[in-house]
Amino acid sequence: MCGIVGYIGGRVAADVVLDGLSRLEYRGYDSAGIVVASAERPELDVVKRAGKLQVLRDALTERARAGAPLRGVRAVGHTRWATHGKPTDTNAHPHLSEDGKLGLVHNGIIENYVALRDELKSRGHDFRSETDTEVLVHLIEEQYAGDLPAAVRAALTRVRGAYALVVTHVDHPQVVAARATSPLVVGLGEGESWVASDVPALLPYTKRVVYVHDGELVVLDASGATLQHLDGTPVDRAAEIIEWDADAAEKGGHPHYMLKEMLEQPDVLRRTLGGRVTPDGLDADLELALDPRAVDRVVLVAAGTASYAATVGAALLERLGRVPAGVVVASEFRYQEPVVDARTLVVAVSQSGETIDTLEALREGRRRGARTLAILNVKGSSLAREADDVLYIHAGPEIGVASTKAYVAMLGAFALLALRFGRARGTLDDAAAAAWVAGLDALPDVVALALSRRPQVAAVAERVAGARDALFLGRGFDVATAYEGALKLKEISYLHAEAYPTGEMKHGPIALIDRDLPVVALATPSPTYEKTVSNLQEVRARDGWVVAVAGDGDTGIAEHADAVLYVPVVAEGLAPVVNVIPMQLLAYEVAVRLGRDVDQPRNLAKSVTVE
Ligand code: M6R
Repeated sequence: MCGIVGYIGGRVAADVVLDGLSRLEYRGYDSAGIVVASAERPELDVVKRAGKLQVLRDALTERARAGAPLRGVRAVGHTRWATHGKPTDTNAHPHLSEDGKLGLVHNGIIENYVALRDELKSRGHDFRSETDTEVLVHLIEEQYAGDLPAAVRAALTRVRGAYALVVTHVDHPQVVAARATSPLVVGLGEGESWVASDVPALLPYTKRVVYVHDGELVVLDASGATLQHLDGTPVDRAAEIIEWDADAAEKGGHPHYMLKEMLEQPDVLRRTLGGRVTPDGLDADLELALDPRAVDRVVLVAAGTASYAATVGAALLERLGRVPAGVVVASEFRYQEPVVDARTLVVAVSQSGETIDTLEALREGRRRGARTLAILNVKGSSLAREADDVLYIHAGPEIGVASTKAYVAMLGAFALLALRFGRARGTLDDAAAAAWVAGLDALPDVVALALSRRPQVAAVAERVAGARDALFLGRGFDVATAYEGALKLKEISYLHAEAYPTGEMKHGPIALIDRDLPVVALATPSPTYEKTVSNLQEVRARDGWVVAVAGDGDTGIAEHADAVLYVPVVAEGLAPVVNVIPMQLLAYEVAVRLGRDVDQPRNLAKSVTVE
């Protein structure tokens, strides 16, 4: 989703902003632009291009060669993920006022832009782009009379929707930013300051940051940053120190972030699980105010991969904690008039903590009186601030757009939460708790072993890469694994993939089966193993090409499959953590063979901050 970087200070502002934008590329975008203010020019200097940042860089190099480099001490840049209007040079941000003095970038959607645009046009404003953003430029331009923060505040009273915006004016020695829903963070240096949509843009320069909250405005000048509410009253918030270093966000020698992040999963699990089991080895200590005995029902809200982690989480909460639990896709939840009360726990699951659908679902749950818990990776994110309790998964920065290590870490967090529920509610006895904890202790090494089987997955990928579609099947806890396997393959290889509970295959999808359709079936030990084997025979009877994911030592499965991906065997409830590894590797190997942009697949954004 769009990335924003603003800078004011003594460095070459355009270079700092371009560097920051490159560190936000993981968010996904399809055009980029930059605007610079300098004392030598009466107008702002803007360059923007459709396409990747390299296209913008090339344009800037050409300008420099022609003797007109972009120079100035204030700059604002943007990577745009198109919503209103195609990814073209014109629609790219920044957008300028008609007199060329005011420049603005925006992340989010202005919901009442049509009415505002008509009104502004009737007052003679000339619109150049198809974006919703441009109304902001004209609104602020109309209000500007030498005081940029005041103009922004006044303009925003007219606006409905989600935004993080950054504005600069050639006659005004400050950069002004404001937030409603879309994330913004300020970086503080000595005699310089930054504003960005995410921390990685700031890390090479400063670790001192202040998070901007909804309904706040920030004014940057060379001496620092001041926060205020949209009514102009000051906000006093101390800076925080970020613990990640810039290296943690680099590829570590691997060709793709996704591969690096998959290989990190054993360490990620050690972080997720480490230090969270009580000294007696029978319970989880998660530092939550939540009392599981005060919960009658759990509703989990999430999107994409996080929703599949939530599906496993719901099954674990039911199995270990004997509490009814179900998943509602976050984008649907608030429109369902959901039935929740004070004894309902709404659990929002999100890597970024900024997914607007999930954030709005959590807010809906709160509005209706439910208690809330957020399971998150990114600290200080919007969801972290709004939930009653937060359980961090400690996956570290995830840069690849396709989520991998965050998924596995979410499953680890759910394994701990389910243990806590089981113990607090008296539904998990000592022996079962001890066995569960022993399974958790072994997980990081088991996942490392599963990752070491990459060559066997690569061999299967050769064939899958030549297919047009694929079908993923799983039962029980592994229904979610099948969905996640199909999503991963779709996202990064662009092959069409479907997932079903294995038992559903005969109710329709079986019509798809022929020799060209790879069928990837989760078939590790479970009470339904034999039923799965029967279903595989049904596929093969119709010439389907079966890839079985089976437990080590299952020599019999080879009779029912064309290829077998062996994985180490763990307790049924922990199997999704291990079984997803060949799913991730398969998607990766197929995408590489097809020459896809693995880390930034087309049309996708890392953090989806629009509805
Ligand atoms: O940041 P979140 O976990 O809330 O993101 C949710 C989804 O947008 C995300 O999982 C998406 O499906 C990924 N591209 C999956 O790889």
